[in-house]
Amino acid sequence: MRSEFPILSRRVHGGKPLVYLDNAATTQKPSVVIDAISEFYRHHNANVHRAGHVLGAEVTSMFEDARRVVAESIGATAEEIIFTRGTTESLNLLASTLSARFTGGNARRNVVITEMEHHANIVPWQMLRERTGAELRVIPVLDDGSLDMARAEELIDESTGVVSVVHVSNTLGTTNEVARLAELARRVGAVSIVDAAQSVSSAEVDVAAIGCDALVFSGHKVYGPMGIGVAFIRRELLDTLPPYQGGGSMITSVSFEKTTYAEGPLRFEAGTPNIEGAIGLGTALAWRNALDMRAVVAHKQDLTDRLVGGLQRRDGVNVHGRHQGHSGIVSFSLGGVHPQDLGLLLDAHGVAVRTGHHCTMPLTQRYSSNGSIRVSAAVYSSVDEVEMFFSALDRACAVLR
Ligand code: ALA
Repeated sequence: MRSEFPILSRRVHGGKPLVYLDNAATTQKPSVVIDAISEFYRHHNANVHRAGHVLGAEVTSMFEDARRVVAESIGATAEEIIFTRGTTESLNLLASTLSARFTGGNARRNVVITEMEHHANIVPWQMLRERTGAELRVIPVLDDGSLDMARAEELIDESTGVVSVVHVSNTLGTTNEVARLAELARRVGAVSIVDAAQSVSSAEVDVAAIGCDALVFSGHKVYGPMGIGVAFIRRELLDTLPPYQGGGSMITSVSFEKTTYAEGPLRFEAGTPNIEGAIGLGTALAWRNALDMRAVVAHKQDLTDRLVGGLQRRDGVNVHGRHQGHSGIVSFSLGGVHPQDLGLLLDAHGVAVRTGHHCTMPLTQRYSSNGSIRVSAAVYSSVDEVEMFFSALDRACAVLR
């Protein structure tokens, strides 16, 4: 598989092999995705949904085929898939279009999130709070990195309008009980949203099995291109939501007196979309769908176990949270060492990891004020790379301590 990813054979810093362990920030792209984007520009480039000519018709059909692949990949229908710029825009779209639930006669009064959310699943709800006065309730994280589910049951009540939770934490790697949380939301008539940015790349994610009303993810974290993402919204809910942005494509007619809006996902896709991004994402998901998911899970479990085991054997290392899953994401801090210093020394050995707060500042500060060092493996990561990481870590520690 590694030969399918051209960048993995790169050398850095005077000939050192690249050891790319920053996959939670973005995954690398297989040749098939790079080629699909190149092919789009070389042979098809035109706009979508405005086809009066052969190129436009080809591109519209490629774009809608990509929507179908996305839908099939998560157990949804194409009418429930909105293309966005990424997870962040998908969550902003939801927070914006769900605002009306928090105003007027039957207003709901709170939004429930968790302490392990990415900033993209915190700030849009704080902005909603500023617009509507809604309360933001936060399910705490226990010391082992799991959610306090007993507290979740207390916080989600009849006044809750939205429950928006991350599937796999981008910082701790914890996999949350999203089906249970969606069930708690359903019981009180709240909308349930799952941030699947870190789970779609290496696990079966099925919206029907989870039972959520909405699920969001980014293309670039699932072997696809940057700048494209997805908001799945259950059709019954989608049909009740007002438009997000105004412009071309999202209308059926426009006059200065009155505009009428398109039905379905197009109502939320104003303007020329990221067409090559959608085609690239469809290609990436088709590539992912062809993998043996059980083998992927076993491989990532093995890499996670090796990372956690190796870190726990080293003096002064504090692994943050519990790592019984197969996310491949492990965060740690090292007594007396600033994460950024360690990150720079690892990079000098060709090892790419992320250091700092990982866009989860409330969570990382709970474990360490300077943030953490995050190692994140992907499906193409190897046992050799894990060993090269540990060898670089030991050499860096000898310098720093
Ligand atoms: N959200 C991305 C990460 O976790 C960028 O690093």
